[in-house]
Amino acid sequence: MTIRPSFLWGASTSAFQIEGAAHLDGRADSIWDVFLRAPGRTKTNDTAETACDHYHRYAGDVVLMQELGLNAYRFSISWPRVLPQGRGAANEAGLAFYDRLIDALLAAEIEPWLCLYHWDLPQALEALGGWQNRDIAGWFADYTALVARRYGDRVKRFATFNEPCVFTLFGYGLGWHAPGVADKTALHKAIHHVNLSHGRAVDVLRKDVAGASIGAIHNRQPCYPCTSKPADAAAALRLAAYWNDAFPFPQAFASYPPELAEAVAPFVAPGDMAQIARPVDWFGLNHYSPHYVRADTNLIGASFGPAPDTVPRSAIGWPVVPGAFRDTLLDIHQRFQLPIYVLENGTAAADVLGNDSQIHDVDRIAYLKAYTAAMEQAVKEGADVRGYFVWSLLDNFEWGAGYSQRFGIVYVDHTTQRRIPKASARWYADMIAAHRTSDGSYNRAED
Ligand code: FCB
Repeated sequence: MTIRPSFLWGASTSAFQIEGAAHLDGRADSIWDVFLRAPGRTKTNDTAETACDHYHRYAGDVVLMQELGLNAYRFSISWPRVLPQGRGAANEAGLAFYDRLIDALLAAEIEPWLCLYHWDLPQALEALGGWQNRDIAGWFADYTALVARRYGDRVKRFATFNEPCVFTLFGYGLGWHAPGVADKTALHKAIHHVNLSHGRAVDVLRKDVAGASIGAIHNRQPCYPCTSKPADAAAALRLAAYWNDAFPFPQAFASYPPELAEAVAPFVAPGDMAQIARPVDWFGLNHYSPHYVRADTNLIGASFGPAPDTVPRSAIGWPVVPGAFRDTLLDIHQRFQLPIYVLENGTAAADVLGNDSQIHDVDRIAYLKAYTAAMEQAVKEGADVRGYFVWSLLDNFEWGAGYSQRFGIVYVDHTTQRRIPKASARWYADMIAAHRTSDGSYNRAED
């Protein structure tokens, strides 16, 4: 057995993508609600007003998780649901929703993994500059304290940020995601203020939650040049600095990667780097595919190019390269020397609801098989991987792609909200069952 019996097999979701109830019980706008009001943000102008209606259907969704045999579940808190203005008065109705969810998870013996920030900044804070305003480190620390004190008696696993590289680059650099800003200075300010907020949140969690197990969630993958041209090779290095290193490096080593140091320097105050590099307990990895990169005239001088024709691709064109997952796990292990939790991995597939009311998602099963085998290979080679969370439990609101991309192992009919576990859900349940301890129970992870 290379996979430890105490291994966590989970699924991940995020608040904005599944909860719905966007303006119920006191929740205020996030930057994504506002962003989506402009036409053309998704192909069919989708919104997340209802999403998977998880706000009302969470109990049934926990039953689904239990039926699959999950022993961990990662969700995020919607900041504007619990603090509608981002700071100041808390919203009791919003806080109570997560009480209900956490209690249901614990009753089902599913360990809750709470992520503080999965991209849905309160619009009220964006109006004050959002991640470009240095004061946000204090606002984020206060929000963290509210969450820690409310749930820290029952939740021990805390992630500060989900994929800071994506929401800063796409939200403040390239303008593709909320809040839709495309500006180099904005991007560099946002990068530094998110790092600072991470460090402040780690301090708060350590102080307020006894036995907290803390990390951040990074999207990380090899960045290969599209061609052998030197300009593409240089572009790949630049993208890798923004994508792979802009957050893990300062958080682990108290310095920015050389490619970014000069650009970020004007925003770094004395003491910041030590505040950012607070020790954490694990490295959270989200991984889907490698990037193929080419030189561009955009503000980072690099863009996402096509994979070579020989590389297999998923239904939405993402390269399928399990070896890159193995390489990434080993690279993280060597560089950061931390236990690793894979907190997102999965694929969108061309899911069709058959006449038999089933979804035979063989391509998703093939992907998951190949990627979990690559993970097992990395474990054999020494990577300290302690958990695997599939993205995602449910077909959900996939940001700029709206409802057009289905990443769930459970199919969601977005008109009726009916849930149908796909063939991949049964495959995942079987694999989890095969890794149960000999007495049939689950052990918690050892750390
Ligand atoms: C990741 C995000 C997640 C989802 C998947 C497909 O970048 O963290 O919310 O969109 O990609």
